[in-house]
Amino acid sequence: MQIATLKQMAGERAVKLAAAPGLIIGLGTGSTAVHAVHKIGQLWQAGALPGIVGIPTSEATAREAASWGIPLGTLDEFPVVDVTIDGADEVDPQFNLIKGLGGALLREKIVAAASRRMIVVADDRKQVDLLGTRAPVPVEVVPFAARPCTLYLQSLGARVTRRLTETERPFITDENNIILDCYFDGIPDPTGLAQAIRQQPGVVEHGLFLGLATDVVLAAPDGVKVLSRNTPTTSV
Ligand code: A5P
Repeated sequence: MQIATLKQMAGERAVKLAAAPGLIIGLGTGSTAVHAVHKIGQLWQAGALPGIVGIPTSEATAREAASWGIPLGTLDEFPVVDVTIDGADEVDPQFNLIKGLGGALLREKIVAAASRRMIVVADDRKQVDLLGTRAPVPVEVVPFAARPCTLYLQSLGARVTRRLTETERPFITDENNIILDCYFDGIPDPTGLAQAIRQQPGVVEHGLFLGLATDVVLAAPDGVKVLSRNTPTTSV
């Protein structure tokens, strides 16, 4: 089965699981979360989700949601989000995540932290025993601090690369910052690393999402698993 199909299965399953009329819904970013946006858009257009408001986690997602006519709001208007559906680059057994390979980690984390429930949608390649074994930790920093932040992150044991666009220009986030991708070859203490990264002036946010996800919808060729905190695993 193609990865694109798994991503679609995960995104659509999450909408079935959590979307309901009147909810404030955080709209994630990336090639998996976009399927949830599409499904919400289809349901909205069919009149099945009256009263919903979407809180997009990036400009790209805002454009996508707007193209479906999904009503959008801001955290100023809706500071508490009922449920957010978003992708991840890694998911560990405690539902800790690495996010941000799509570059939207700052707004994604702000929306996730404002959410009562955060559902992660992913294909099963994203499941890891130890964070940092598959993906780098993206760290968003203000451009002025790029070099000192790079040196600091190297001192924490990372191999650091400044993220570039396809045309080899610095990747600029929706909040006008740059991203340093930090490769660790395994992160035995994510909490300690997260705290250490935050110590450095110029760091705006990092892609370790610890204790934020409440549910994980994981698509594999043999079906979709829904893992929820404190509830048994269900399969469909
Ligand atoms: C966006 O900044 C990211 O956090 C994505 O949610 C994450 O990279 C997963 O993306 P894909 O679903 O495209 O793999």
